[in-house]
Amino acid sequence: MDHKPRVLAFAGSARIDSYNSKLVKVAAEGVRGAGGEVTVVDLGDFPLPLFDQDLEAAEGLPDNARKLKEIMLKHDGLLIAAPEYNSSITPLLKNTIDWVSRPSDGEKALAAYEGKVAAIMSASPGGLGGLRGLVHLRSILSNIGVLVIPDQVALGKAHEAFGPDGNLVDEKRRASVEGLGKSVAKLLHWNRCPEPFPSQLSSADCRPFEKVG
Ligand SMILES: Cc1cc2nc3c(=O)[nH]c(=O)nc-3n(C[C@H](O)[C@H](O)[C@H](O)COP(=O)(O)O)c2cc1C
Repeated sequence: MDHKPRVLAFAGSARIDSYNSKLVKVAAEGVRGAGGEVTVVDLGDFPLPLFDQDLEAAEGLPDNARKLKEIMLKHDGLLIAAPEYNSSITPLLKNTIDWVSRPSDGEKALAAYEGKVAAIMSASPGGLGGLRGLVHLRSILSNIGVLVIPDQVALGKAHEAFGPDGNLVDEKRRASVEGLGKSVAKLLHWNRCPEPFPSQLSSADCRPFEKVG
């Protein structure tokens, strides 16, 4: 029986050397450290046209939207690192959220999102670290059925924050970002486990993980 929570991690940027891609990988380590499984995907590997309802009506979901949705459906939690563009989220992230939100083949609307637990974060060279974009992302995700944990990280001065290995140089910052992944894994685990949370996700007393909803 597979007891491990599965978390999907991605950034709202496909930029080479994206700070947000690096950031979400740090959070992913937190999931692994808590005993969960994490899949990191690059949205650049799933190019999509700009959402257009006429295109959708004529051609249905693009293959990459279907693929992404299938991946999301196989996971229980999300880690999203969202760059801030003009005080909001990137067009790449919004476009991806919108395509994946669409039902196909008799599916329930928002099937890919309902019952997911997510942590959100952002990185920017600016002082606020992309904080204003997170306000929008939290609102969007919450309105489509995702439980977004209260903790979040907005990493300012991102151009100075990462070492050559892609990890955060400052240990406290690294711990707080890894903590996001750990919190998601713990919450998913707690959701199916009647016992107090063990230090590792291996308690034989846990019920099989059940998706919410
Ligand atoms: C169109 C555009 C708008 C931007 N607006 C903001 C902004 O409002 N706040 C901010 O902190 N950074 C802003 N930036 C800078 C991004 O934070 C920076 O490009 C960052 O590196 C993007 O994230 P990434 O490294 O993950 O690609 C903007 C960048 C672009 C291209």
